[in-house]
Amino acid sequence: MNNLMEKIVSLAKRRGFIFPGSEIYGGLAGIYDYGPLGFYLKENIKREWWRHMLREDYIYPLDAAILMNSKVWEASGHVEHFSDPLVDCKKCKKRFKADELEVSQYPNIKCPECGGELTEARQFNMMFKTHAGSVEEEAAAVYLRPETAQGIFVNFKNIIDSFHPTLPFGIAQAGKAFRNEITPRNFLFRAREFEQMELEYFGHPDKADEYFKDIRQMRMDWFLALGIKKENIHFRDYKKDQLAHYAKATTDIEYKFGLSEDGFSELEGIANRGDFDLKNHARHSGEDLKLEGIIPHVIEPSLGLDRAFLAFLMDAYCEEQIAVPTGRQANGKSQSEIRTVLKLHPKLSPYKVAVFPLLANKPKLVKLARKIYSDLRLALSWPVAFDDRGNIGKRYYSQDEIATPFCITVDFESLEKEDVTVRDRDTMKQERVKIPELADFLKQKLS
Ligand code: GAP
Repeated sequence: MNNLMEKIVSLAKRRGFIFPGSEIYGGLAGIYDYGPLGFYLKENIKREWWRHMLREDYIYPLDAAILMNSKVWEASGHVEHFSDPLVDCKKCKKRFKADELEVSQYPNIKCPECGGELTEARQFNMMFKTHAGSVEEEAAAVYLRPETAQGIFVNFKNIIDSFHPTLPFGIAQAGKAFRNEITPRNFLFRAREFEQMELEYFGHPDKADEYFKDIRQMRMDWFLALGIKKENIHFRDYKKDQLAHYAKATTDIEYKFGLSEDGFSELEGIANRGDFDLKNHARHSGEDLKLEGIIPHVIEPSLGLDRAFLAFLMDAYCEEQIAVPTGRQANGKSQSEIRTVLKLHPKLSPYKVAVFPLLANKPKLVKLARKIYSDLRLALSWPVAFDDRGNIGKRYYSQDEIATPFCITVDFESLEKEDVTVRDRDTMKQERVKIPELADFLKQKLS
């Protein structure tokens, strides 16, 4: 894990974004729980994705079940192909992904942990398997979906029959996916339970290249509009021999997670899946999955929500050296200190605003601050924070660290003049705003 990632893991736990799953029982590898602030950030990313997807009326939202008939996974190729080659150490019994051990050197390669002899590589299917009903036999086997895409393909006919779309049209879905990753690692980057947000865009085969190009750019623009820095994100086009068995073309949008040699790793995959899925489901199910006389071709942008969450956090994390205000300097000497600030796009910030009484032991200040807090919660549809602990400087820093764009302080002047101080997270500038105008002021700043 790199230095920035370590800082993010620590901040995420300390401030209630992400907790290790089942922590009081020692955790469970590759599983994470989202705390209150993580919940808000994740919901905000998801909402922005849905807004982006549903801005055209020919994109249909879907929420398919996680458990599906196991024939779905036979038709999709997951039962046969969704596997990793594994080797076991005969001595320490640890298990490794063969492609991470440079198996080209096999059989001379030894266990990286104890130097023991390794078994030959065997295929290990990454789908989680369980049983539906009370009979634990193969016929009742079901899989937790390893991707949301197949829920879309098996509902293709239902959407056509209910909504009668013409080509091109799309079906979008966000939801949980599960993969029994051999080596879950790097925090949210590779987990065993995660969320995907996928669009399957169905079009005429002659137009597939054009749609692929447009969607590829549209997805990059989405990340940039939500504040990801240009230098930290780029496209990586796959060469023909790197393509998955179902893809005619693939481009990854890569983010600089700092986990690979050049620093960049996959954030979102955009694939031209051709007619692979509909053709296979038509063959296996016996249903007619044609529209306008053809089997449409599919362009699929597929984003991991948790991976996006990690990218937005890493991109927003800043440590700034700032001058200590004159009143707080020791021996009258000029000093500086580090302020940690998450410069998330305000649309993604968990809290949009925090309200403080200047002093917690002055009932009149606390009462007015509480009233402003309740009024803002009613007037704005966003979560608002309230804090009356510690000195005001620490409260500002505490909100900076969780990305709150504005802080409101109620002081003695507020009691007389009906105004408050509003402090901007990024510039740290403060201005006085009349209390009755606060909601409109914030709406305008955050719109
Ligand atoms: N339907 C296509 C598909 O599932 P994928 O490249 O296997 O393609 C798409 O997954 C996206 O899902 C990835 O770009 C990544 O963001 C996310 N993802 C995949 N495996 C993941 C894991 N183990 N943990 C977190 N996110 C993952």
